[in-house]
Amino acid sequence: MNTTILGLDKNKSENIVLGLNSLLANFQVYYQNLRGLHWNIRGKSFFELHVKFEEFYTDSQEKIDMIAERILTLGGTPLHTFPEYTALSKVTIGKNISNDVDSVNLVVNSLSELLKIERTILDESGDANDEGTNSMMSDFIAEQEKTIWMLRAWLN
Ligand SMILES: [Fe+2]
Repeated sequence: MNTTILGLDKNKSENIVLGLNSLLANFQVYYQNLRGLHWNIRGKSFFELHVKFEEFYTDSQEKIDMIAERILTLGGTPLHTFPEYTALSKVTIGKNISNDVDSVNLVVNSLSELLKIERTILDESGDANDEGTNSMMSDFIAEQEKTIWMLRAWLN
């Protein structure tokens, strides 16, 4: 078996880097969606959602850095340009959304897309015995599932 300096299968590790770069791109679009929602939200839920979206974008900013640095740890190069991010994004790009329900729906749908990518990486990193990536995906998945529950409770 051709292994990396970390003792991981080289081909599997390269494939995980591809997945992580896709996750990075999608997270960047999610992050920018949240900035837009934070800025443009209007209505009776303004104070509540303006603050909540800031909490979410601050959290995703940290996760974006964790993903990029995991890519580097595995020997890859994190994507770092907007054209690459939008080209790879499955997360819908939100524009001119100011209504509270539409805003929260965009967050739920974005998180749902991120979960799909994370579950694929979870499978692949489990198969590769890549515990570092695997545990990161487990943590992200559990947190996002809980966030989706809370947002759906808010939506009713
Ligand atoms: Fe702000």
